[in-house]
Amino acid sequence: MGPPSAAASPAASAALRSAGEAVLRANWREGVRADGVAYAFTCPAPPRYRHMWHWDSCFHAIAWRLVEPVRARAELRTVLRSGRPDGFLPHTVFWDARAGWRRAPLYATRGLLGDRHTETIGPPLLAYAWELVADASSNDPGFRTEALLELARHLRWLEDERDPDGDGLLSIVVPDESGLDDSPKYEPVFGRLTHDRAGYALLMKRGRRARWDSHMLIERYDHHVEDVWVNVAYALSLHAMGRLTGDASWGARAERVERALLERCLDDRTGLFFDLAGRDERPVRISTWSSLSPLALCGLPAHVRMRLVEQHLLDERRYLAPVGIPSVSMDELSFNPRWDRFRTWRGPSWVNVAWLLAPAMRELGYGAAADRVVASLATAALRDGFREYYDPLSGRGLGARGFGWSTLLCELVDVPFTAPAAPGTE
Ligand code: GLC
Repeated sequence: MGPPSAAASPAASAALRSAGEAVLRANWREGVRADGVAYAFTCPAPPRYRHMWHWDSCFHAIAWRLVEPVRARAELRTVLRSGRPDGFLPHTVFWDARAGWRRAPLYATRGLLGDRHTETIGPPLLAYAWELVADASSNDPGFRTEALLELARHLRWLEDERDPDGDGLLSIVVPDESGLDDSPKYEPVFGRLTHDRAGYALLMKRGRRARWDSHMLIERYDHHVEDVWVNVAYALSLHAMGRLTGDASWGARAERVERALLERCLDDRTGLFFDLAGRDERPVRISTWSSLSPLALCGLPAHVRMRLVEQHLLDERRYLAPVGIPSVSMDELSFNPRWDRFRTWRGPSWVNVAWLLAPAMRELGYGAAADRVVASLATAALRDGFREYYDPLSGRGLGARGFGWSTLLCELVDVPFTAPAAPGTE
């Protein structure tokens, strides 16, 4: 691919920004559902991803806040009314289009057809996104506090329903609740019930039979994980909630999650954070970007975070790839940099991962490495457009086109960066 420094010019940044805005506008959907509930959101990438996904919408709102904050606020308000009054917020919501009959049985819904949303959660980023959007909402200052009760109810729902052992870490009961559907880290846990195998239909059937009662599913089966990335998202939201409310108890909850990650998920030998699987909470020793995601928590000790960068992100056998940050360490047998039908998160580089980790790398003093991640993705996006993900070795754009959260790149390139050195020359 072309020289990564091509993306560093102001003209290139401007071109990316206008292409990013066009994607957000093209994917925007608004209307009123048959029951009178209004919605406004960005779908990830029509026609393939026509619905609303919780974490996609949080990222879309974060991207919109720099383009048209009024839409960012509308999208987050829509996320907030997508679930139930008890605080449950779904992973996928079918606002303007029902799930197609062929796909419908594979969504984690109550029935087989006609549901308005799944019964599963997504990475809980709402309070985190809310604060970022509030910071960009000087013309609507009430936004910051208008939904504190609902946000609190949502965070309490997660604690009550998804932390049955009370150790501070949330559990997920379906792989795609982390958003990382086919990540190889779920293979040893879900076996033939993983997202890309025929047995996934059985996992859906079992959930429906249990009416998605997560306490029951967690108690009775071993197919669940205390997922590192989901808990990083949770801690980010709890911290944000502390700042939005000024109530220190939210910050204390966030610190409890961080302590649990450090004490229970951090692997001393490798410095990586591993998910804890099943009733006996065995660590899943597979290196994926999720093992690095605690880097986004600036309250964790600097030496723990720096080790993630130095021993993993800067290692060209692991995560130091020509383009972006691979979703699976390149030294894992399961690493697959290419597109693979129904197999996402098995190697390609995603923009939201760079958006979460590159600023943390900069903050810790690894500016040149962060610049390289950003510039290489920017070059790929200028050439192939805002794709769902990119081949970390060749930079080729893969998966859906016009992918909403890939426009987060526009914010990343706004931070001035130096022309990166070729991988391995630092
Ligand atoms: C894919 C991704 C998931 C995302 C969804 C919508 O399933 O793996 O993370 O939320 O698409 O973009």
